[in-house]
Formats: sequence, C-alpha cells, structure tokens
Amino acid sequence: MDPRGKNVWITGASSGIGRALAVSLAEAGARALVSARRADRLEETVAACRAKGAKADALPFDLADVTAVTGAAIQAARMLAGVDMLVCAGGVGMRGTALDTDSAVARRVFEVDFWGTVELARAVLPAMRARGSGQLVVVTGVLGKFGAPRRSFYSAAKHALHGWCDSLREELLGTGIEVTALVPGWVRTEISERALENDGMPHRKTDPGQRRGITPEECARRAMPAIVKGVPEQLIGGIECGSVYLNRIWPGLFRGMLRRRGIG
Ligand SMILES: NC(=O)c1ccc[n+]([C@@H]2O[C@H](COP(=O)([O-])OP(=O)(O)OC[C@H]3O[C@@H](n4cnc5c(N)ncnc54)[C@H](OP(=O)(O)O)[C@@H]3O)[C@@H](O)[C@H]2O)c1
Repeated sequence: MDPRGKNVWITGASSGIGRALAVSLAEAGARALVSARRADRLEETVAACRAKGAKADALPFDLADVTAVTGAAIQAARMLAGVDMLVCAGGVGMRGTALDTDSAVARRVFEVDFWGTVELARAVLPAMRARGSGQLVVVTGVLGKFGAPRRSFYSAAKHALHGWCDSLREELLGTGIEVTALVPGWVRTEISERALENDGMPHRKTDPGQRRGITPEECARRAMPAIVKGVPEQLIGGIECGSVYLNRIWPGLFRGMLRRRGIG
C-alpha cells in the first residue's frame, strides 16, 4: 500500500526497527501513530516523524497485557479515524536455554512476540475487512525460519507468527487486505541488550552478529518497497539471510555451519 495520506499505526516504535519504519512511513506521507511502553522515547519518534512534515502522535501500551491491547485498538481507531496500515514491530529477544529458562520468562516472550501482535491484529483488522482495504505488516526475523541456541522461545514465537500470517493471508484473499511479513537478519538495535536471560534479567550485551548488522534506517529503507508493493514476505539483511535458503535446500550443511560459527 502506498503510505501517502494513509493512517499508519506502528508498534515497537520507541527504538530500533519500529522507530525507523515510523520515520520512513512519515517521510513517505503517512500519518503516524506510534506505540511501545517507553513514553519518553515515543515522543522522540513523534518529533522525528513531525520533522518529516507528517502528523504524528503517541499511544503507549504494553503488548503483553491483552486488555491494554484491545483498549489501545479502540483508542487508535478514534485517534486516526480508522487504521489503514498496522505495522507490528514490537518484540523482545531472549538469551535463555530451552530447558532452563524460567516458564514465566518463556511465556512472556510468547505473550509479547506472538500474542501481542496477534491480538492487536485481531482487534484492528475487522474494521479493515469491513472497509475492503488495509495492510498488516509484521516484523518476524530469520529466527522465524530456523532455530538456534539460546533463542528457543523467541524462535518458536517467530515461527508461530509466520504460520499465523501465512494462514491469515490466504483467508483474507479478495478482501483488499495485504499481509506482509518483514524478515530481517541482523540489525543493530537494542534487541540483544534487552533480551531476556533464563531468569528474565536483561542480557546487557550487544552480540557480535548484531554489531555487524545493518542499521535500523537501512532496514526500513529496504522494507519500504516491500510495504508499498504488499509483498507477502521480504528478507532484509546481509549474508545471514542466505542461511534461510541454505537451511531449506541443504539443512545438514547449514547445521554444521551454525555449530562451527554460532549465530553471531
Ligand atoms: N535487531 C535484529 O537483529 C532483529 C532481527 C530480526 C527481527 N527483529 C525483530 O524486530 C522487531 C523490533 O526489534 P528491534 O531489533 O528494533 O529491537 P528494539 O530496539 O529493542 O525494539 C523493540 C521494540 O519493541 C517494544 N516492546 C518490547 N516489549 C514490549 C511490550 N511488552 N509492549 C510494548 N512494546 C514492547 C520496545 O519498546 P518499549 O521497551 O518502549 O516497550 C521497542 O520499541 C522485534 O520484533 C524483533 O524481534 C529484530
């Protein structure tokens, strides 16, 4: 969907990829409503969007709180007089192990990364369906295409998002709603510093893969044509994106490389 003149709601917009997408969409002529929990950081995103000449507002809420999610959807519809495009970039990373991560931490990753996005989309898309147009953009990631050590619940939540988006896209054929999954590789954001360890404490380190990643602005720049064209799925990143194809055609070789090199 061409974002010019459209009402776009972006989650995860207080930092990283969500923030960069909000600014790019604002620059492309969208009116932006930006969400996350940190209100002060959202105001910075609002200012950056307004600096591009766009109308922009903030709506803070917690994706892990389903009541807050449905309440925010009602408020967003009022603030924007209808949401034309929902961009779901809110998410939390993990650096815990598959067996020893505290169950509450594992469930939190799913609450934010899977259920937060899914419940929000389920609250927003019926109005798009009634209008006969709209777009859902979901930021998943290459770990939604393969698993890796210390990423189990994150990877599982992102795989689940891919399955849900693929099903939804088929169900919405002919309704005028496009479903676009953006699949970044490594992007230099706060995600690994804030990722949850076994006990729920933040990892507090930027992993080497992340450090070598593209900038969030570059990620948004490459995402924009996919958003405008409404492509079903778009890989965005460096050589790590090739891993998705390698894993599909030669999984043994891929696993060997993963074991030798780690994931970054
Ligand atoms: N960076 C990468 O290499 C990479 C690769 C593939 C996919 N991704 C995905 O890209 C998306 C954006 O991540 P990022 O890399 O840009 O990291 P980031 O800078 O840490 O951004 C994460 C965003 O999600 C928001 N968020 C986290 N928990 C939330 C909650 N409970 N409720 C509401 N908002 C919440 C954060 O805001 P608040 O803390 O203010 O709430 C922040 O705006 C995520 O879905 C991530 O999985 C990232």
